[in-house]
Amino acid sequence: MTQTEPAWWTTSVVYQVYPRSFADSDGDGIGDLAGITGRLDYLHELGIDVLWLSPIYPSPQDDNGYDISDYQDVDPLFGTLTDLDELIAQAHERGIKVVMDLVVNHTSDEHPWFVESRSSVDSPKRDWYWWRPARPGTTPGEPGAEPTNWGSFFSGPAWEHDEASGEYYLHLFSRKQPDLNWENPEVRQAIHQMMRWWLDRGVDGFRMDVINMISKELPLRDGVVPTAEGDGVVPAGSVHGDGGPYYLCGPRIHEFLAEMHAEVVAGHADTLLTVGEMPGVTVEEAQLFTDPERHEVDMVFQFEHVGVDHGAGKWDVVPLRLTALKESLGRWQEGLAKAGWNSLYWNNHDQPRVVSRFGDDGEHRVRSAKLLGTVLHLHRGTPYVYQGEELGMTNAPFATHEDFRDIESVNHYRSAVELGADPQHVLAGLRRMGRDNARTPMQWDASPNAGFTAGTPWIGVNPNHVEVNAEAAVADPDSVFHHYRRLIELRRTEPAVAHGDFTMLLEDDPVVYAFLRRLGDVELLTVANFSGDPVRPAVPRYDEWLGAELLLGNVADSSGPELAPWEARVHRRTVTG
Ligand code: NOJ
Repeated sequence: MTQTEPAWWTTSVVYQVYPRSFADSDGDGIGDLAGITGRLDYLHELGIDVLWLSPIYPSPQDDNGYDISDYQDVDPLFGTLTDLDELIAQAHERGIKVVMDLVVNHTSDEHPWFVESRSSVDSPKRDWYWWRPARPGTTPGEPGAEPTNWGSFFSGPAWEHDEASGEYYLHLFSRKQPDLNWENPEVRQAIHQMMRWWLDRGVDGFRMDVINMISKELPLRDGVVPTAEGDGVVPAGSVHGDGGPYYLCGPRIHEFLAEMHAEVVAGHADTLLTVGEMPGVTVEEAQLFTDPERHEVDMVFQFEHVGVDHGAGKWDVVPLRLTALKESLGRWQEGLAKAGWNSLYWNNHDQPRVVSRFGDDGEHRVRSAKLLGTVLHLHRGTPYVYQGEELGMTNAPFATHEDFRDIESVNHYRSAVELGADPQHVLAGLRRMGRDNARTPMQWDASPNAGFTAGTPWIGVNPNHVEVNAEAAVADPDSVFHHYRRLIELRRTEPAVAHGDFTMLLEDDPVVYAFLRRLGDVELLTVANFSGDPVRPAVPRYDEWLGAELLLGNVADSSGPELAPWEARVHRRTVTG
């Protein structure tokens, strides 16, 4: 890539499919590959360039496929390798690239590598995972005997005692997701080989799951036990420490990613997309990860802006402060302006629905969903749309804790209640932040199971599908769907959207989100009212902008100096000097 030829993904929009919840073709209640293939025309109409598939590999499904037992096959739940080849071929025919989820911080405990590793302390694969003896002076298997005090992301300790050998293995996620030991060169080679196999099969890149956790600082040691009411990883009252400082962006992370690039991506770099999911990554680290000169990854998923409503941990939801959101996203825009690249997202399979979170999912659902899309897509970076976001799908009305399926929510509920938390309070947190909000079935139409399945869906369908569904949205030119379609098109037709400089305005304004984009003599102003009351934006010389072209808006016949509730506008003008 040269400076005059920006990478293809700078003008692209990625659409994420969570296969389990997208479209079920065989009536077993679980989405599948043939179901996705059957909906490619819908995605083509939306105009997306890339399809990212959450994991479809063989898996015991402890974490819905993020626990992989075979990296080079398809789980029968989702179909066969032939179905996948067909999906890729059909996507390519429509000009859509396919990016696979790459989950290599950990495998399933049922992966043959781990089964072998566990079989004996002398196994040639013993060192492929993190095996450690109990803490000196303790009894193996007793609470407190774990090699370090780290908590796991899914509640409880990050170490599991293996009775047969008396040792423990590390699992930052569930006990069925043992962490791979990337210090071992054989592990890295096996993964590189597997990645090359997928590229040869025709996939167009990888979304790399928690990839900034693969390098651990040695020797492994205890983390600080939080004094506050838990920190998201560690539940309230927990005895577990935070190992984050020792496994987030550890000492060899840049080396491992550069090696992966050299071994797998180099030679195809111009046609592929690589995006690293990186909890806790700072903008300074992201500059290094995404600087094209360093050949690591094209872009990263950072988490700051989806943490602005966390209080003492993710389950303790605090009201959105728009100034904090702007401060964060604005700093990332600035930080990656010269080298590197942002990924832009509100939603994915781990986040609650953005219209319920930062918008208004009641009276102003349609308008606020369009506003959120507008603000995100007008930033500099590659936007990601998560299935149903383009319909303004909302959080689900989970009645009791038994309606949740996600291991994180189920474990958190059990462990917090065991520790004495009020069940109603815990349930309130799950309703707001639980990952299942994103995982209810895609709403295709108004029929009883929303057109998702002819069988019984694996998780409840949101009853609002009678109103919020793809069939209705495609038929309505004023829908959220068509607004997203226009946003995606705008990125291709208006170069300032993809390539313009970014300047945040009104940083201290508590309700208006406003920013400029500038490329050559073209200037774009995005201005958005994050409130249910009309507001006159304090944008400098806004009256001059009112005479400029209105590229896009979400309120019909709006032209005055006042923004209606949840109104967003994108103005365009040419300037000299
Ligand atoms: C991040 C994924 O997005 C999430 O769904 C999963 O539970 C963890 N990584 C573990 O793989």
